[in-house]
Amino acid sequence: MTQLDMTYVQSQFPGLTDDWVFFDNAGGAQIAKPALDRMTEFLTHRNVQIGGSYAVSQSAAEALLKGRQAAATLVNAARAEEIVFGASTTVLMGNLMQAMRSQFSEGDEVIVTMADHESNIGPWTRLAEFGVTIKVWPLNAETMDLQLSDLEPLMTDRTRLVCVTHVSNILGQVHPVGDFARFIHDRGALICVDAVAYAPHRLIDVQAWDVDYYVFSLYKAYGPHGAVMYGKYDLLAELDGLYHYFYGKDKVPGKLEPGNPSYEMAYAADGILEYLTGLARHHGVTGDDRALTKAAFDLITAQEDRLTDRLLKWIAARNDCRVIGTDTNMDSRRVPTICFRFDGINSGKIAQAMDGYGIAMRFGDFHSRRLIEGLAEDHDDGVLRVSMVHYNTVEQVDRLTAALADIVSKDAA
Ligand SMILES: Cc1ncc(COP(=O)(O)O)c(C=O)c1O
Repeated sequence: MTQLDMTYVQSQFPGLTDDWVFFDNAGGAQIAKPALDRMTEFLTHRNVQIGGSYAVSQSAAEALLKGRQAAATLVNAARAEEIVFGASTTVLMGNLMQAMRSQFSEGDEVIVTMADHESNIGPWTRLAEFGVTIKVWPLNAETMDLQLSDLEPLMTDRTRLVCVTHVSNILGQVHPVGDFARFIHDRGALICVDAVAYAPHRLIDVQAWDVDYYVFSLYKAYGPHGAVMYGKYDLLAELDGLYHYFYGKDKVPGKLEPGNPSYEMAYAADGILEYLTGLARHHGVTGDDRALTKAAFDLITAQEDRLTDRLLKWIAARNDCRVIGTDTNMDSRRVPTICFRFDGINSGKIAQAMDGYGIAMRFGDFHSRRLIEGLAEDHDDGVLRVSMVHYNTVEQVDRLTAALADIVSKDAA
C-alpha cells in the first residue's frame, strides 16, 4: 500500500496552519479546498433562489443537483433523490422522527443504544409520549461495543426501528452495520444509523449494507457545516412531509428539506468528492468515482492506523493512563478517535493546558452522555479525546504525547 503524500494532503486544506495541531476533528474537521471553492463559486456566481426560469436560477438548481449526486456517489445511493440535506445530524434525526411519527402505533417498540450520541437517542425517546416503548441496547462489557447477542432479547414482533451508531464518538470501534441491518430486517424492523464518527474515515456503501436511514455531518467530513441523510427511496416516499400542505408525499426529498437546504453547503459535497477522487488520482489510481473514493479511503485508513497505533502504544506504555473502550486496533476496526484519562487528574485541566502547546483537543462527554455516565466516567470533567484524521501526522502525535507527559509531570510535582 502506497503511503499518503502528506505534503499534498496538507496543501488541500487551507485551514491547516503551522500554529495549531488539530486533534479535535471529531468535533469539526478542516474543509478541503475543492469544497471551499464550490462554496465561493456558488456564492459569487449563483446565489439566487432555485426554481426560477432565468439562467442564474437554473444554474443554482444545477449546483444543488450536483451536490446531491455527489453525496449519492459518496454513500453509494441508488439515486440522488435518496439524499436529504439538512443543517446538522441533530436536525435531520429530529426531522426523521417527526416524519415517521404517524407510522408508529401505541405498543410499538423502538430500540436505541447506550453507545450513541444524544442525536440518535433523544428524538426517538420522545415517541414515548405517543405510547411507543423505548428499549436500550446496552454496551457489551466484555467487548466494549454493541453485540447482536445483546440486541436479540430486546427484539419482539412489535419492534419497528433500531437506531444505532456506526462508530461511537467515544469508543472509536467500527460496528458491522451490514450484519446489524440483516439481523434487524430478518425480524421485521428498520435500521437508522448515525455515521457521524465513521464518515470521515472509511468508505460508505449503503447499498451493500442495506441500511434504511444513514446520517452524517459534512463539517466533520471535510465539508462545511451541514449534514446528509440517506434514506431508501420507497421509505422516504412513505414519510410525512415536514411543511407546506401542498407538498405531496411524492415530493422526495423536497418535503423533508424545509425552506430548502443551504445550496452552497450542498454543492460543497461535490468538492468533497473531488478531493477524495483527486487524492486517489494523485497516488496513481485510475477508475470511476466510486473506485477512486474507495482507493482514497484505503490510503486514509493506512495513515490513520499509523496515528492510532502510535498513540495507543504510548498510552499502553504508561501506568497512569487508560483508554476508554478497547485499547487495540485489530484489523483496522478502530478509527483514530481515542478517549482516555489520567488517574486522579482532571481531564479539563489537561485539555486546557494543551492550548498553551498549540494543540487543540477536547474533554467532557461529547454529548454521548448516557454512555459516559453508564461507564461511570463523568467525574473530573469527563474524558480526554484526541480525534485525528488523515491530515494529521505521526510527528504531531509525538508532539501531543510529549506535551501530555510534560503537563502530567508538572501536575505531579
Ligand atoms: C457520533 C455523533 N453523532 C451525532 C453528532 C451530532 O452532529 P451535528 O452536530 O451535525 O448535529 C455528533 C457531533 O459531535 C457525533 O459525534
